[in-house]
Amino acid sequence: MVKEKVLVIGASGQIGVELTLALRRIYGNANVVASDLREENQLLKGTGPYVSMDVMNKEMLHVQVIRQGITQIYLLAAILSATGEKNPNLAWHLNMQSLLNVLDIAREEKIHKVYWPSSIAVFGPTSPKNDCPQRTIIEPTTVYGISKYAGEFWCNYYFQRYGVDVRSLRYPGLISYKSAPGGGTTDYAVEIYHEALEEKQYTCFLKEDTYLPMMYMPDAIRATIELMESPVEKVSVRTSYNLSALSFSPKEIAAEIKTHIPEFSISYAPDYRQQIADSWPASIDDSVARSDWGWKPEFDLARMTKDMLDNLK
Ligand code: NAD
Ligand code: SER
Repeated sequence: MVKEKVLVIGASGQIGVELTLALRRIYGNANVVASDLREENQLLKGTGPYVSMDVMNKEMLHVQVIRQGITQIYLLAAILSATGEKNPNLAWHLNMQSLLNVLDIAREEKIHKVYWPSSIAVFGPTSPKNDCPQRTIIEPTTVYGISKYAGEFWCNYYFQRYGVDVRSLRYPGLISYKSAPGGGTTDYAVEIYHEALEEKQYTCFLKEDTYLPMMYMPDAIRATIELMESPVEKVSVRTSYNLSALSFSPKEIAAEIKTHIPEFSISYAPDYRQQIADSWPASIDDSVARSDWGWKPEFDLARMTKDMLDNLK
């Protein structure tokens, strides 16, 4: 068996922390190098190698890939939807250039596999609102969505033209308790659990009936690993796979939390993120991922809520 050495870029972020820990369980602690622009997350400390690195510095990235003998790269560094609307130029620059740096180095160094996440944000107001299919009208209206959609085609290009085995998932909004989310429109669904436990009250920045596609982090980590471990012939989509688990509104998640914390109350003060949320589908059809490599989510809203509250307590 070929010995794999994995580099995770953006390892201190919401997904990076949990994905790094999961990859360390598979490949061994020493064989998964965590890296980030910011300091090493507390949960990663002592679990394996960490390198402080800016993915925009292509030379430094290249040196690390060669020096560490890297065979797989997971690129998680990005600016998400809400933060991206505040600084569109920066979001475009980081989200695009980081991917091009990684794809170029992967081609040159014959990296076995690359993982790069896309998002439900590729879809826009003209896409179907419910059960949005894998292939449909895609006209994103946020800079984040535009960068993800362009990135999907760069992944496909490097696969078709250079044979770089790059794989991707269009994650829904991810909900987790280990590491904080980093500036997305779906972050309310994480904040609400913290505020419910600490304040028994939450003011939501989206309207009560805003349905969005969501997923609990353990499902997202498992999906990522299952896609990356699938035999190459099972991966038919080389842009990015639709991925789905849950669809709920702020009113529904609040009602579920109230079954555990009866005194909890929610109020609504929609801000600029409402417009972003309104441009996205309410639910996603992920039948291609299900039939290609057997994807199936495990957590529903009730099970996720119980697990979130138990762990945050
Ligand atoms: P995050 O913001 O929590 O983490 C991103 C990490 O990248 C941060 O730790 C940040 O310090 C690091 N980073 C930023 N600029 C960097 C640079 N120049 N060099 C090195 N590191 C840098 O984001 P996340 O939620 O973990 O998202 C990871 C990926 O998944 C992103 O591509 C995001 O678009 C995608 N995604 C996330 C969600 C979600 O709900 N969290 C949904 C869809 C897609
Ligand atoms: N959770 C992400 C966001 O809201 C979706 O990509 O930006």
